[in-house]
Amino acid sequence: MHTYRAHRDVTVLNDHMEVPGLGFLPVNAFVIHAAEPVVVDTGLGLPDRDFVASLSEVMDPADIRWIWITHPDRDHTGGVFALLEAAPRARVVTTFTGAGIMSLERPLPFDRIYLLNPGQSLELGDRQLTGFRPPLFDNPATVGVFDTSTGVALSSDCFGAPLPTAELATAVDAAAAGADDLRAAQLLWATVDSPWVHQVDPARFAASFQPLRDFDPTRILSTHLPPITGDPARMYDTLLEAPQADPFVGPDQAALEAMLREFQPA
Ligand SMILES: [Fe+2]
Ligand SMILES: [Fe+2]
Repeated sequence: MHTYRAHRDVTVLNDHMEVPGLGFLPVNAFVIHAAEPVVVDTGLGLPDRDFVASLSEVMDPADIRWIWITHPDRDHTGGVFALLEAAPRARVVTTFTGAGIMSLERPLPFDRIYLLNPGQSLELGDRQLTGFRPPLFDNPATVGVFDTSTGVALSSDCFGAPLPTAELATAVDAAAAGADDLRAAQLLWATVDSPWVHQVDPARFAASFQPLRDFDPTRILSTHLPPITGDPARMYDTLLEAPQADPFVGPDQAALEAMLREFQPA
């Protein structure tokens, strides 16, 4: 795991995975170094990953007070149950739906849950974290985070992009990918991750960016992109094209078999 500060108060725990045919997808979790420290998402659940050990390089997991799961997909919940054990005072911030989905894997004790809907806030003493619904999402439990003291927005899957190299997936600024390549990769990800976007009314979709525009973030940190440190307006424009972008159709069985034949020795 590659860790770095994306802001004075935010550490990125950066991992990535190769998606065949698409590229290298960053998989980020975050620590917000608030008066009551918060982990946002908990990485991949692959057997060779140890999220709590990676977090230990940043801070003592026992000091974590909140584990904000932006949504309970497997690339966000990898370390959640191990972290609940390592951080006995921490509670999982999620929605009613999110708690239900996570409880299908292992029961989440009610006294370890804090239910928060978009628009509601968590008071941490030195700051307030406010939940918001990102414009694009792939899970009904998705809630992003606005840190009102730093202006940092954590957007969950939204703004993500599979990048051409592992090096770019570990970059500390999304701008490293180059504006044109980044735009194409973000649009591709939008259609892969949120295929419903082709059915939305474009005006209502555009209106869904308003909470983000009103918050006017200093940085946008996506789970699936290096940090966006510049003016995000261009990326709003990119995602606004998603309803009209080509729908993604994944490889079918014939394509998979053709791919496997290529891998086989003659
Ligand atoms: Fe997801
Ligand atoms: Fe994700």
